[in-house]
Amino acid sequence: MTLRLAEHNKDDRERRLAEIRQSLGARSIVLIGLMGAGKTAVGRRLANWLDLPFIDADSEIEEAAGQTIKEIFAEHGEAYFREGERKVIARLLDGGPQVLATGGGAYMNPKTRAAIKARGISVWLNADLRVLLKRVGRRDHRPLLSVGDPEAVMKKLMAERGPVYAEADITVESRDVPHDVIVGAVADALAAELGCEVAPRRSAQAATPHRKKVQ
Ligand code: S3P
Repeated sequence: MTLRLAEHNKDDRERRLAEIRQSLGARSIVLIGLMGAGKTAVGRRLANWLDLPFIDADSEIEEAAGQTIKEIFAEHGEAYFREGERKVIARLLDGGPQVLATGGGAYMNPKTRAAIKARGISVWLNADLRVLLKRVGRRDHRPLLSVGDPEAVMKKLMAERGPVYAEADITVESRDVPHDVIVGAVADALAAELGCEVAPRRSAQAATPHRKKVQ
């Protein structure tokens, strides 16, 4: 019987997080999903909980190129960006254990997918269209959303990418709730995926069985 992280007392919670960290070995926790799914916000907090480094692949690409993603797209085109993205993520995956947030298109590259499968645990943050649009509407730094109607673009990407994202080891619904709730759900799903079984010291009455998909 496993307790959800939120049902643990502080000590058990810390032990559970330590166990997740240990079970990872040198693997990275790799967050994937569409723009606005919360990969960076959730990833940063998850890294903090697990006391692991947090790396944002998009920021690393921008640093390597000395340009923003918008500038890379405008000056060199998407294909050039995708090749840089593949190389940067391959390099970053050597740096585990860590929490690695990837840009929405990264997992669509078969080589990147294979590299993540080999050296990481992938977590798809899935969100519905309304949530995604609300979040991406706050900023305008995403080149794919600066051409055409963002809703139509996002619908198209959801249809194209959904079946590929579904190959992830773990799927968590990124709902419109405080980020820490999602971080807890990711940690619970990771514990289940990694087979962490911290024996609860408290009553197990509140326990709920783990499911791979966390609602
Ligand atoms: C992209 C998502 C962006 C960024 C680039 C392309 C995509 O990252 O990598 O603009 O193809 O979905 P976020 O998902 O972090 O916004």
